[in-house]
Amino acid sequence: MEKYLWWRDGVIYQIYPRSFMDSNGDGLGDLQGILSRLDYLVELGIDAIWLSPIYPSPDADFGYDVTDHTAIDPRFGTLADFDQLVAETHRHGMHIILDMVMNHTSDQHAWFRESRSSRDNPKRDWYLWRDRPNNWEASFGGRAWEYDRTSAQYYYHMFLKEQPDLNWRNPQVRKAQLEVFRFWLERGVDGFRLDVFNMYFKDAAFRDNPRQFGLRGFNRQKHVYDCDQPEMLPLTQELRAMLDSYPERYAVGEIFLSPTGRAAEYIGDQKLHAAFSFDFTASELFFPWSPAWVRKQIERREALFAGERWPTTVFANHDLPRTASRYCRGEDDAQAKLAMTLLLTLRGTPFLYYGEEIGMRDVPLRREEIQDPPGKRYWPFYKGRDGCRAPMQWDGSEYAGFSTVKPWLRVHPDHFQRNLAAQRSNPDSLFNWTRKLIALRKEIPALRKGEFVSLASPSGTLVYQRRSAGQTVQVMLNFTRKPIQLQIEAGAEPEKWTPLLSTGFHENSRSWILKPNEIVVLLSTQPAPPVKASPQEKR
Ligand code: NOJ
Repeated sequence: MEKYLWWRDGVIYQIYPRSFMDSNGDGLGDLQGILSRLDYLVELGIDAIWLSPIYPSPDADFGYDVTDHTAIDPRFGTLADFDQLVAETHRHGMHIILDMVMNHTSDQHAWFRESRSSRDNPKRDWYLWRDRPNNWEASFGGRAWEYDRTSAQYYYHMFLKEQPDLNWRNPQVRKAQLEVFRFWLERGVDGFRLDVFNMYFKDAAFRDNPRQFGLRGFNRQKHVYDCDQPEMLPLTQELRAMLDSYPERYAVGEIFLSPTGRAAEYIGDQKLHAAFSFDFTASELFFPWSPAWVRKQIERREALFAGERWPTTVFANHDLPRTASRYCRGEDDAQAKLAMTLLLTLRGTPFLYYGEEIGMRDVPLRREEIQDPPGKRYWPFYKGRDGCRAPMQWDGSEYAGFSTVKPWLRVHPDHFQRNLAAQRSNPDSLFNWTRKLIALRKEIPALRKGEFVSLASPSGTLVYQRRSAGQTVQVMLNFTRKPIQLQIEAGAEPEKWTPLLSTGFHENSRSWILKPNEIVVLLSTQPAPPVKASPQEKR
């Protein structure tokens, strides 16, 4: 049997360190806090943790503006704490991934301070300086070029003006950056999440981006010249060669702006192991959710991520409204369970954002509580990303078991009822559903590696199979609040299936009537019948 590969077959859990667990009573999560919760991650069945940035940062963009890529922010701990975290994560049978923010630094980084000090400073060319700006816009709003009075030139920043972009075309920058990767590999880190890696190179001639229709400046241009430049491919190869010189190391790239098809191009044997495709989180403001839409998204990514390209599945992260806030009504978790089932039964590595396993909702914040820069800028049209970054809800105590003092960001008021302790003891909870799904994924090879087969099913439902030699898993999802009789074309004889999981608890798992919002996962070891081409959803 093929070896279990942690980054392909396992579940990766994203920790937003400042909100996961505070060990020293300052209201901010930290590395010792994470260490104290490793047993919990084992209980959940996690294979690897990804830490959002833990480097020193003035927090203009909450850690994504780094002043030193090879140090730990003292608020999170020390390098000794980090080494302990690596060792303990491994001892717990898990792996650890760091978030590498290599497209830009903080404007407080020593490199940028030097670079901006004068036009003839040796680090001047480490960033992108020009006498005249072109038409490029910053993703967080406004022009992408900031005028620097001291040296009377403009520097480029894709994000905030406090996040100047590095000049990856400069060989010294490239070398210094690759040394940073090596630094962490030598410390035992198992992999990296590359922040906006498809932005590293910009057009060498700084040509203007062409115009298009859009609501705000940034969206009123096609991002042709400020991302996805061909120089990125050789760099991914070089990085991959470095990773491959250590056993079982991994890199997943965050594609910014570009469509899923572009993400697929960066993946391969000599490229990155994976790149996020945000099939289920497509836009910042608008989140469709219907079986027909989900099916379309899955089929599109199945076509793109074939062969050696292994997909990732993402429903939430630190930039997006939480899954439950997007799809659930009030405190009802039915739709969150559907989304969790998709995350854990589709083909691809599941990325689970902390708190999703208990259905955390975005914390409601008043305008004066907003900390995220784009939220401050675009309120009330866009409230920023603070909502999904609230403290983990461990229990029903005043600060949710996250801290003993008032946390850096308000705890969601629903934590008195919605918390891990409460959900642990409730067999019907989203937490227990998630845990069972993760365990099932570990146990059943078809769920990890099996081919994805979509089956035609009535409106309001989604039915698919995962098939591998000798095993077929069938997943049946009722998105509606009505019972639905299924008429599906393949695998229609209920007696051949063994029910593995159901939210219906469940006298009818051997028939084909799904209860309201029911989810059923079935297993068959008989040869799977062929499926008719291009299944159509009935309307
Ligand atoms: C993408 C990260 O996910 C986001 O949080 C950050 O603001 C930008 N990159 C800039 O680093």
